[in-house]
Amino acid sequence: MNYILSLLIIGFIHLVHSKIDKDLQTFFKKNKCDQKCTFESGNLTFGTIDLFPSSCETVCADLQLDQRSNLTENELTSVFKNMKHLIGRLKVLNTNYTSGKFLSGLESIECDGNGMLEWGENFKLLEIGLINLTSIICYRVDIWQNFNLTRLNMPNLKILFYPWSKYSLPVKESYIALTFLSTDFCITTNEMATTINVTDYISYKYCEPVLDDKLCKEPVKGCIEIFGDLEITDDTDLEIMKTIEIIYGSLIINGTDIKDFGFLESLKYVASLEKNMEAIIVENNPKLNNITFPRLKESFSLPLLILPQTILNVFNATVSLVFDVEYILPLRH
Ligand SMILES: *[C@@H]1O[C@H](CO)[C@@H](O)[C@H](O)[C@H]1NC(C)=O
Ligand SMILES: *[C@@H]1O[C@H](CO)[C@@H](O)[C@H](O)[C@H]1NC(C)=O
Ligand SMILES: *[C@@H]1O[C@H](CO)[C@@H](O)[C@H](O)[C@H]1NC(C)=O
Ligand SMILES: *[C@@H]1O[C@H](CO)[C@@H](O)[C@H](O)[C@H]1NC(C)=O
Ligand SMILES: *[C@@H]1O[C@H](CO)[C@@H](O)[C@H](O)[C@H]1NC(C)=O
Ligand SMILES: *[C@@H]1O[C@H](CO)[C@@H](O)[C@H](O)[C@H]1NC(C)=O
Ligand SMILES: *[C@@H]1O[C@H](CO)[C@@H](O)[C@H](O)[C@H]1NC(C)=O
Ligand SMILES: *[C@@H]1O[C@H](CO)[C@@H](O)[C@H](O)[C@H]1NC(C)=O
Ligand SMILES: *[C@@H]1O[C@H](CO)[C@@H](O)[C@H](O)[C@H]1NC(C)=O
Repeated sequence: MNYILSLLIIGFIHLVHSKIDKDLQTFFKKNKCDQKCTFESGNLTFGTIDLFPSSCETVCADLQLDQRSNLTENELTSVFKNMKHLIGRLKVLNTNYTSGKFLSGLESIECDGNGMLEWGENFKLLEIGLINLTSIICYRVDIWQNFNLTRLNMPNLKILFYPWSKYSLPVKESYIALTFLSTDFCITTNEMATTINVTDYISYKYCEPVLDDKLCKEPVKGCIEIFGDLEITDDTDLEIMKTIEIIYGSLIINGTDIKDFGFLESLKYVASLEKNMEAIIVENNPKLNNITFPRLKESFSLPLLILPQTILNVFNATVSLVFDVEYILPLRH
């Protein structure tokens, strides 16, 4: 009798002390997680799937899918069909899924200060496929060893940043890790536009974009983003440059009579994925006497993505984008 009683008590204690770690419990409390919409077990498997709060739009969970899950993509699609917001963490590890589309209804993921969004060792995964996801607020985003992954396919992602953390913030270059993916992996310009703020380095290429009035290969009036290298020479119509905000490639200013960068009045980012080329090259502009970038300077909280090692070849510029003219060293003399 006593034995049974203790078992009951142990069982009760076990229920009260949920498996969710302390940080996450605090985070759930702060976010006013509904008990009915909290998935305590976290590990979604054949055995726990019935406990998943599949009618909730906002679910709180330390959600993990892995080799023990033994659930088909159809079963997952059905269990996740109402989930729009996930508060907690998400890991998809060691599965055989080809796409994460079973989570395509998901619009936001908000992690605690220690929480990650992680997809790893899913060898058959071709795309992440979170097509409705607009916002990831997590300590780190780690997409690793999905050897056949060719696309993120996260076209609506607009917000990507890290939350407050009692742990030190990850350095910018490790906030979003894209490692050991297919050699065909590419990132779209839209995905890059969102990623720019939180990364210094991506070792994959751009997907071939769909050009429109806004995104151009050849600069014409009205372009806001340029795909490919933008070369400014003496023949360039500087008027056209005034609207450009992002260059997905290098900026080369070579052999001009320009005196300053005032004509790049909207330029916010230069994001080149070329490994062997600086993002910004300024060469042979004898009249240049002011190298402040109007917009880059103004919003300087690391708004400039210089990929890879870049302006440093020209200027010694890690701290400020306002330089002393002395630092314009002759480049190739
Ligand atoms: C899920 O399973 C892993 C491995 O067994 C375990 O470490 C983790 O605590 C489990 N997660 C939850 C929320 O129970
Ligand atoms: C994935 O597929 C491999 C080979 O087809 C199999 O050995 C493995 O058990 C599968 N893993 C899961 C989680 O279903
Ligand atoms: C996986 O689930 C199927 C039913 O969907 C079941 O027949 C099978 O035994 C399960 N395999 C394991 C390893 O749990
Ligand atoms: C994704 O969003 C679109 C537009 O809001 C909506 O029509 C669609 O049903 C959503 N997809 C899923 C799987 O919920
Ligand atoms: C995934 O990639 C590995 C290694 O590149 C390859 O051996 C394997 O055949 C691929 N699997 C699928 C399902 O394409
Ligand atoms: C990047 O950061 C700047 C300044 O913090 C912000 O205004 C901008 O909206 C962010 N861009 C994206 C795409 O998140
Ligand atoms: C700049 O122009 C000169 C002369 O046309 C050329 O030799 C050089 O390679 C150019 N530099 C860059 C970085 O394109
Ligand atoms: C240098 O250029 C910047 C940006 O175009 C401008 O705001 C600033 O006034 C210029 N400085 C001088 C001393 O002309
Ligand atoms: C460039 O930066 C390095 C490291 O901060 C410093 O040691 C070096 O003196 C700088 N060079 C110039 C020319 O300012």
